[in-house]
Amino acid sequence: MASLQCMDAMVLGKTPQRILVIGGGGRENALAWALARCSGVQQVWVAPGNGGTLELPGCEQLAIAEGDHDALLAAALRHHADLVVIGPEAPLAAGLADTLRNAGLPVFGPGAEGAMLEASKQWAKALMAEAAIPTARHWSASNLDEALAVVKAGGQPLVVKADGLAAGKGVTVATTVAETEAALVEVFSGRFGAAGAAVVLEEILEGPEVSVFALSDGQRLVLLPPAQDHKRIGEGDTGPNTGGMGAYAPAPLLDASALEQVRQLVLEPTLATLRRRGIDYRGVIYAGLMLTEQGPRVIEFNCRFGDPECETLMPLLGDELAAVLLACALGRLDQAPALTIKDGCSACVIAAAEGYPLNARAGDPIRIDLTAADRAGRGAVQLFHAGTRMDAAGQLHSSGGRVLAMVSQSHDFDTAFAQAYAALAAVHFDGITYRRDIGHQVRSR
Ligand code: AMP
Ligand code: GLY
Repeated sequence: MASLQCMDAMVLGKTPQRILVIGGGGRENALAWALARCSGVQQVWVAPGNGGTLELPGCEQLAIAEGDHDALLAAALRHHADLVVIGPEAPLAAGLADTLRNAGLPVFGPGAEGAMLEASKQWAKALMAEAAIPTARHWSASNLDEALAVVKAGGQPLVVKADGLAAGKGVTVATTVAETEAALVEVFSGRFGAAGAAVVLEEILEGPEVSVFALSDGQRLVLLPPAQDHKRIGEGDTGPNTGGMGAYAPAPLLDASALEQVRQLVLEPTLATLRRRGIDYRGVIYAGLMLTEQGPRVIEFNCRFGDPECETLMPLLGDELAAVLLACALGRLDQAPALTIKDGCSACVIAAAEGYPLNARAGDPIRIDLTAADRAGRGAVQLFHAGTRMDAAGQLHSSGGRVLAMVSQSHDFDTAFAQAYAALAAVHFDGITYRRDIGHQVRSR
């Protein structure tokens, strides 16, 4: 009883003061930046963060890997964190949220069971079938012969998806039967380790893709504006798939009534089915949708914010964000202030390393000729670091495929993208690679 009263006192519209963000990408730096500027928040720690974390006002970096659950728990307790936000899927799937919650910490991010939504495509498909959620027709197989028999019976190319987490590399959209078969041979060859022990084969759908994010407290949902990612490396949406080369929001692909339809058709049934399975899902439900001629279809679920959608969305969210995430963590969204969504258009362009996504080169020195205000996200743009690290001498280097995210907002997309691209011209490193056509769907020039 006493602890229940204590929780109620904590939640009544309260803003957390001390927040630990876990993860080291552009998504986590954007979360840390957005949370640190909420009034009432005193300190944000990011573990492990990256080369840009220290430049974020109000943020400190902790050198703890996202997989080191014991050290993360110890740090959260030592710093008296009153909210922990877990960014990436791997620690969620590995049960980090469960470990922290069992120690009494309020955590934004689902436990291992809820993270199955992303960690097993078969599991997610079974949930969608149970909840009658519109998705592509599919077949599951746990060995090569079984999978090849499915392809032979259909005689059509199919999408091949490794069942488990494969860092965005486990999906092949085949254009021929031979390509489908080759993708299956690759998955079952062990290339994806345990993630490739089973596959989901899907019919190929067509239509624009849009990402929808719902913040869940286990019972209720708050929806964010829809965002559109750009998955391919090349301009004109060509070349191999990446983690995402840029994004914009709000995506006019889904207007308010279409978003409401997605809430009713997809998000509420998903949450209800999770609850029926005894899963108290407190975190992000990310629905990757394809808008087909027959209506929206779920292409994938993820158990976290998208990257770069998160960088794009955070600047549009109001001061209530920290209180809303805490309320989700405590299962009490009913007591949270309404989350304000700012008017305006947000544009994000990713600067990647040479060779990304196949063979990204690391170690290039980075020079950033932006004002201090812009570097700290206090000016017209936000520069969120992703694959960067700072050496002992204070020199910044590239350290991963996606290096930086440049984000800007304005009253229209033309201006927002013009500002983001102008700022990107002030970022220099050898082999810098970015698409000039991010947002082509919403730009007039
Ligand atoms: P996923 O990791 O499941 O999101 O798949 C990666 C990408 O593959 C998606 O963003 C789509 O572009 C594409 N994709 C996945 N499933 C399908 C499908 N059934 N039909 C067409 N494209 C798909
Ligand atoms: N931007 C796509 C993802 O985060 O999965």
